[in-house]
Amino acid sequence: MSGTVHLERDGDVAFLVIDNPPVNAGSRHIRKALLEAIEAVEADASIRAAVLIGAGRSFIAGSDIKEFDLPLDPPQLPAVIAAIETSAKPFVAALHGAALGGGYELALGCDARIAVPGTVVGLPETTLGIIPGAGGTQKLPRLVGTAKAIALICPGQRVAAEQALELGMIDALAEGDLREDSKALAVSLVGGKKRIIDLPVPQDSQEAIASAEKKALTSGRNRPHIAAAISHVKAAGQKDAAEGLAAERATFEKLRVGAEAKALRHIFFAEREAARGRPERSAKPLPFRIFGVVGAGTMGAGIATAVLQAGYPTVLVDSDEAALSRAKGRIDAALEKGVSSGKLSAAAMKAAQHNLTLGFDLSALADCDVIVEAIIEELGAKQKVFAELDRLAKPGAVLATNTSYLDIDRIAEATGRPESVIGLHFFSPAHIMKLLEVVGGRKSSEAAMATGLAVAKTLGKQPVEAGNGFGFIGNRIYAAYRASCEFMLEDGALPHEVDAALEAFGFAMGPFAVADMSGLDIAWRMRQQQAATRDPASRYVHIPDLLCQAGRYGRKTGAGYYRYDEKGRAERSVEVEDLIIAESRAKGIERKTLSREEIQSRALATIVNEAGLVLEDGIALRPGDIDVVLVNGYGFPRWTGGPLHWAGQQDPDRLMAACAAFAETAGLGKRRADLRALGILGPAGQPA
Ligand code: 3HC
Repeated sequence: MSGTVHLERDGDVAFLVIDNPPVNAGSRHIRKALLEAIEAVEADASIRAAVLIGAGRSFIAGSDIKEFDLPLDPPQLPAVIAAIETSAKPFVAALHGAALGGGYELALGCDARIAVPGTVVGLPETTLGIIPGAGGTQKLPRLVGTAKAIALICPGQRVAAEQALELGMIDALAEGDLREDSKALAVSLVGGKKRIIDLPVPQDSQEAIASAEKKALTSGRNRPHIAAAISHVKAAGQKDAAEGLAAERATFEKLRVGAEAKALRHIFFAEREAARGRPERSAKPLPFRIFGVVGAGTMGAGIATAVLQAGYPTVLVDSDEAALSRAKGRIDAALEKGVSSGKLSAAAMKAAQHNLTLGFDLSALADCDVIVEAIIEELGAKQKVFAELDRLAKPGAVLATNTSYLDIDRIAEATGRPESVIGLHFFSPAHIMKLLEVVGGRKSSEAAMATGLAVAKTLGKQPVEAGNGFGFIGNRIYAAYRASCEFMLEDGALPHEVDAALEAFGFAMGPFAVADMSGLDIAWRMRQQQAATRDPASRYVHIPDLLCQAGRYGRKTGAGYYRYDEKGRAERSVEVEDLIIAESRAKGIERKTLSREEIQSRALATIVNEAGLVLEDGIALRPGDIDVVLVNGYGFPRWTGGPLHWAGQQDPDRLMAACAAFAETAGLGKRRADLRALGILGPAGQPA
């Protein structure tokens, strides 16, 4: 049995203590126990008011989403809230930790809400592909207006108590003890009820509503549940309250069992599982307090910013004085942006600036507990740095490389302590991107790996553990995907057609737009380094090399796969298209039009096949980790659940056929993953 509610008395006030560790998720047991407790309060004439409060670290983090795959057992949350609203006695919601989703909706059913500073409240249901299902879309507009409610509900905004008070989402901040303050508030309400559902919706201008709606749809990628949330928020106050609540619940129920909500739940749990790393690891993280970063380029500055934002002293080292001063400028600018966007307080920015030490020499890193190297991608240069770090770093310090594809073991070899060496592969911009691959070399100790995962969590990143193989998880799969898209250029498609097809599937950007943005020269350099070891049987497309030879490095040179006008807008390039057609001719390939579906099918088959190989090679621990990487670092649409969850939902025979067709287009050297043996695809005729 999961969860219970303790009914405690304090004079004539009852405390209903919700107890379901770790985050008091609203399971069926909690709903049942709450309803019984509310009925007990109602029946006891000696109780004049009640307080709902959470045991442990939170109020209620929302409904228990583990129950969402099955029909929800009664009593359902709306019935619990209705019991509070129909009770003659006032109920106060005393909030701490998280009051999210159904937890905040329960609070909206009470007569007042009081929160400890730092509490997070809000309706994040849309991040799970659903809409609030227990009155959120009908009550929040009554407190904050329609436009603001759209702006809060559609992105699933989590709001700190201080701001929630300003917005009217809560009524008071607890100044002292939460129990004492909530009791006083409850007593002050005795004799009256203050139901939000009885309030009118404040009038917003049509322009304000239309603008909030447009913004929400754009940033919500026009997903159906975003449109549904908007429509229910706009309907609040337009019809009978009970009708509005029933309509909201019906939409919630329909979305809850839909494919997108299932996929988003998969990602929710996969992210948490990935963060735990290897399940059998018992080693504890080593203590860390001071960070070092080697290399003051874009990546080094971004990593230093991420660490400083998390409140840690950081020593940034580079022998180039000008690079250090540029990095300092970038760090300051990023911290200031954090303040202007409300993510960082002015005091936290000052503290972060104070925490930064610049150094010209690696000896400045002698006190650091974790050192991240972020210099150029060149094995020799990295080995030199690690040999020096071995000499200078304190015993037990974790020595991490931010390499995106080099061999961690070769880097570790340069030290006399390979057990302390791991990969911490950040994504650019490092202070913004959530994904962090924690890479284990052959000799990396379990404690060093546990520290890497702990560091990632402390920096607010999404860690995923990866094995040491070319490109680890993400870059390896992305390289295969990109190559497959290049084959399509030779076979008959043009860059804008490939990009449009994959954006239509849901990628944030198509592969050629991404290549132009990140710079074609980086991959070019990597291909040159690999030229000697490349399998001669594999298919090689020269188009990107030819673009680089022509100085078309992408956006930064005003030209890549596309041409860029002075405002940075991309246009098709006749020169590039002619070059592509000439390449097909030179290779004797007869170009044929590829439909949107063919492009999607070929690209996705490549991704799924490579993901399978990553699993077969032991580079990823589990399929969900690959989904987490692709969704958080590579713009793969989150609402599909990531490539392997997506694959599991497809007709297995068709997907196998697409993989076979892909292997043919990729040349003889391409291995095929056994997707059935891996459990990614079910047996013939059946999904996984
Ligand atoms: N249901 C089930 N389990 C949940 C849960 C939920 N709503 N929220 C968190 N958990 C579990 C996590 O899976 C994790 O389990 P694990 O230890 O086995 O991995 C454990 O609780 C701790 O969670 P976190 O690792 O995320 O802990 P943090 O301290 O980092 O974060 C949190 C806490 C901010 C509450 C975060 O867990 C969170 O954001 N939870 C989801 C909130 C949410 O989306 N609520 C809406 C649910 S839908 C709903 O309420 C519908 C309603 O409108 C009817």
